[in-house]
Formats: sequence, structure tokens, C-alpha cells
Amino acid sequence: MKHLRSIDELGHDGLVRLLNLTQHMVEVNRRPIPKVPALRGRTVVSLFFEDSTRTRLSFETAAKRLSADTMTFSVSTSSVNKGESLRDTVETITDMGVDAFVIRHKSTGTPWQISEWTTASVVNAGDGWHQHPTQALVDCFTVREALGVERFDGLTLTIVGDIKHSRVARSNISAFSMLGAKVVLVAPPTLLPPDVAHWPVEVSNRLDDVLARTDILYMLRLQSERMAQGHVPNLREYAELFGLDAKRVAKLPTRAVVMHPGPMNRGVEMLVDPSTLPNSLIHQQVSNGVAVRMAVLFDLLAGESSAANLQQVTP
Ligand code: NCD
Repeated sequence: MKHLRSIDELGHDGLVRLLNLTQHMVEVNRRPIPKVPALRGRTVVSLFFEDSTRTRLSFETAAKRLSADTMTFSVSTSSVNKGESLRDTVETITDMGVDAFVIRHKSTGTPWQISEWTTASVVNAGDGWHQHPTQALVDCFTVREALGVERFDGLTLTIVGDIKHSRVARSNISAFSMLGAKVVLVAPPTLLPPDVAHWPVEVSNRLDDVLARTDILYMLRLQSERMAQGHVPNLREYAELFGLDAKRVAKLPTRAVVMHPGPMNRGVEMLVDPSTLPNSLIHQQVSNGVAVRMAVLFDLLAGESSAANLQQVTP
């Protein structure tokens, strides 16, 4: 694998390979010194044109735990402010000798564009509304670990909220479907994409109707920074119809798990304190983020010596 740009490009076998590799990385992370020499001499640069807390820090931590060198590109203090184009920025960094770009950008397709301008590997850390493949890997791994299953046949994933602007929803629909889950989307019609009829999902506008048959409840943030105009008439009404409150938690089957990619809007989609939820996986999603990104960087960059390197990460 040279790049990780979308779940569909990764495919079922690639998805399973990375999920299995993540398990090795979880073991590395449990060691007293969670660091291995697997990517010594490699350089990973993170190029974030959009804000991020979890994704950026977990990629940087992952690269360091594999002993790669890291470079952080801060848009606000770079020559982008002097009018330098994305292409010139990428070519300049490539000339310094980097092995991978981890890129987040507000425009769909940027990772594909960048991979034409550089010889380095490209990892998509979120492109517009389009894809966020490492978040989907995190979520699949977290569910596998929590439920003790390898595949999701017979399980229903219900994704609630701003599907239209969500790259997390798009990547998760592909990934969970590949592993056999049924996917239900719940959103007001204004927050559904126009082509949703062609997606492999069931659509509902009523959260209360689907809770009882949900195994994995996935809440999304209203991504107002990606909205051209108000897609919801008022936040209180949205919270009433689509927010997770105690009454809705009570309607979930007792085994159901609750997830959220963060950042969370408390009082909008999350009306309960998530720490009081019996089966919340929200903390596990964050902690698995590092191991997943270690697996991705290892898979892309360990190269020829990959088999030998794997010994180093396998206790
Ligand atoms: C998501 C993103 O940036 O797409 N966050 C994340 O990576 N954990 C979801 C969001 O912004 O709501």
C-alpha cells in the first residue's frame, strides 16, 4: 500500500490487515516504554489546513512511537500566508526528503491531488465532507475490541446527525458495511446528502423509531463550519429531535454501545453526560487513535524490511 486516501481504495482485505496490525500496536503501547525502532530514519510531515486536536496529536504520537522523525507544518506561520500555493508547498517539503504526508484539508480530493505532486506516501486525515479513513479504522477497531467480534454481521450501526457534511459518516458507512454491518442513517432531510438513495443504507428521520434495534449508536457533531447556510432552523429543536438524552438512552438495548468521533457539542447532539453512559466507547475511540495511526504509518513506510520490522513490534 502506497497511500491511504479512502476506505474504498483500501478495500476489505486492506481494512482487515490494518485492524489486525493495530492489535500489535496496542500491545506495543502497553509496554512500559511504548516505543519501537520500526520507522527509524523515516520522516512524517503533518500538513493540517483545518483545525484538529485528536487526529493531529495521535498521528504525531504514532510517528514518534515508531521512531520516525516528525515535522509539523503550521499553516498560520507558513509561506501559505505569503501566497504560496499548495503545490509549491508540497514540492518544497518533498525536496527536504519526507516519506509521508499526513494531510487534512477543507477541499475534497486534496490527498489525491497531493499524491500526484510528491513521491512520498499520502495519508488522508480528512478531506472536506469526503473521507476520514483513519477515523473509520479507529471506530471499527474499537467496536471489534469492545464486542469481541471480528466481523459485524447481524449488527446495526445507527449514525445520527449531520451526515451531509460528515467525512466520518462516509468513511464509516463504507468500512462498517465491508465488515457486514447494516447501517441506518438518522437525520433531518436538510442534513442528508442529495444522493443518499444510492448509498448502501436505510434512512430514517425519527431517532426514537430506530433505537430499539441499534447495536452501535454513532452521534455526529453539527459541523457548522462546513455549512453554507443554516441547515437547522433552531438548535433547540434539533437537540429535541436528534439529541441523545436519558430517555433515548433508556430505549437502547442494554448491550448497545455509544460512540462519537469528537469534538462533541454538549447540549446539542449530546444531552447526557457521556461519562454516565453505561456503554460509551468515546474514550476508547481516542485511546485507540494512536495504535491505529501507528498501524497505518507502519504499513505504508516499513517497506521491504516489513517482516523483520514486525518482529520488533510483536512482543
Ligand atoms: C471529525 C472530523 O474532523 O471530521 N473529528 C475527528 O477527526 N475526530 C468529526 C468532526 O469534526 O465533527
